[in-house]
Amino acid sequence: MDFISVQDALNKKKGNVAIRGWVYRERKLKDKVFLVVRDSSNIIQCIISSDNDAWNDANKILIETSVEISGELYEDKRAPTGYEIKVEKLHVVHFAEKFPITENQSIEFLADVRHLWLRSRKMTAILKIRSTIFAAVHEFFRNHGFYEYQSPIFQPTQSEGGSTVFKVNYFGHKMFLAQTWQLQAEPAIFALEKIYTIAPSFRAEKSKTSRHLTEYWHAEMEYAWANFDGLQDYIEGLIKHMVKSVLEKNQEELRLLNRDTSKLEPAIKKKFPRITYDDALKLLKEKKNIKIAWGKDLRTIEEDYLSELYDTPILVSRYPKKVKAFYMKEDPNNKDVVLGVDAIAPEHFGEIVGGSQREEDIEKLKKNLISQGENPEDYDFYLDTRKYGSVPHAGFGLGMERVIAWICGLDSIKDAIPFPRTMLRFKP
Ligand code: 4AD
Ligand code: MG
Repeated sequence: MDFISVQDALNKKKGNVAIRGWVYRERKLKDKVFLVVRDSSNIIQCIISSDNDAWNDANKILIETSVEISGELYEDKRAPTGYEIKVEKLHVVHFAEKFPITENQSIEFLADVRHLWLRSRKMTAILKIRSTIFAAVHEFFRNHGFYEYQSPIFQPTQSEGGSTVFKVNYFGHKMFLAQTWQLQAEPAIFALEKIYTIAPSFRAEKSKTSRHLTEYWHAEMEYAWANFDGLQDYIEGLIKHMVKSVLEKNQEELRLLNRDTSKLEPAIKKKFPRITYDDALKLLKEKKNIKIAWGKDLRTIEEDYLSELYDTPILVSRYPKKVKAFYMKEDPNNKDVVLGVDAIAPEHFGEIVGGSQREEDIEKLKKNLISQGENPEDYDFYLDTRKYGSVPHAGFGLGMERVIAWICGLDSIKDAIPFPRTMLRFKP
């Protein structure tokens, strides 16, 4: 008999079925053994009686033992997923040792045994949603005529500020791990015009917040002939497509995570408010009684207060020039601000996207680099893009784990990635 998934068995409702998976729960009685078996799709209760040939094996089974089971399926309202299999054949593929994870264990312990905790229903649900969100990025950009393109991870320069860059000893040369694909992506728009990627980015973040990883997956795009409104349309379009995909494909997982999906609906139904940094300062003062001196970057706490005023992500643009990266274009109407935009998620999930129109003026770029303590000569390859048929262009980067944490409603970004890397956590 062919094996079917546990979910397909549940859908079948009755008849003979063969399934395989891992023992999720076991209860041994005098004349019966109850096994709840899980596979990647769902869980199902199986019952073995004492007259079964495999009775002795059944009594030796511990949690996480891998099994193949065939038998008759029928409805039983008391079973955890409403159906039960009366086991005819039980084949133990591997008897598990005593599994170290039991109920109610500390977050720290679960992080130590992350390689085993991945099997939990919670992590399985998150990883499925993560897969949907990755697919959504590819769908969105490919549907809009973008090519997938890759930048190197080893890079000769920083790009988002020296304080968070990882230095690598590269055969005696100083190199950096990518903070972004951007500086090696911009040259490619002159070939492909519209490009995107999903790749790891690295930030030597010394913060221990629920939002920062040192290694995260970065969805980035860059395109030629861009304007600032069009860029914001792409940001909004991608976020909407991600939320919509998860709501379509992962209702079961969202339910398992106790995610209140009514909090996600506005993101697909409503247009995202577009406000400026100046508007943000005004709103913070009027609605939250927080005064920020013009020129200061918005901190996490201020982003949180701001997000409380809305039920969708918001796009905040035109930040003071001195708090943003060297490549952001000066606003032609106000030289103190740049055409940079951040998307801030609702419910205190913080900045999920950062992007900008790119500065085309080579002299301004050099000046910005110098004012940040960089040597423009190190950026010759990048500055060349402004010498040979420069065009208006723009792009953004979206932190995949930030979006996953928001959509899943997670307490920490660490659960949005299989093996989180932070300042304090780098094993397993
Ligand atoms: O705002 P950032 O630094 O922008 C850039 O890197 C641009 N070069 C992107 C571009 O225009 N191509 O980073 C982009 C996004 C942030 O909005 C955030 O979502 C995420 O990357 N991010 C992090 N996610 C997890 N852990 C960290 N330490 C992160 N740092 C940034
Ligand atoms: Mg940013």
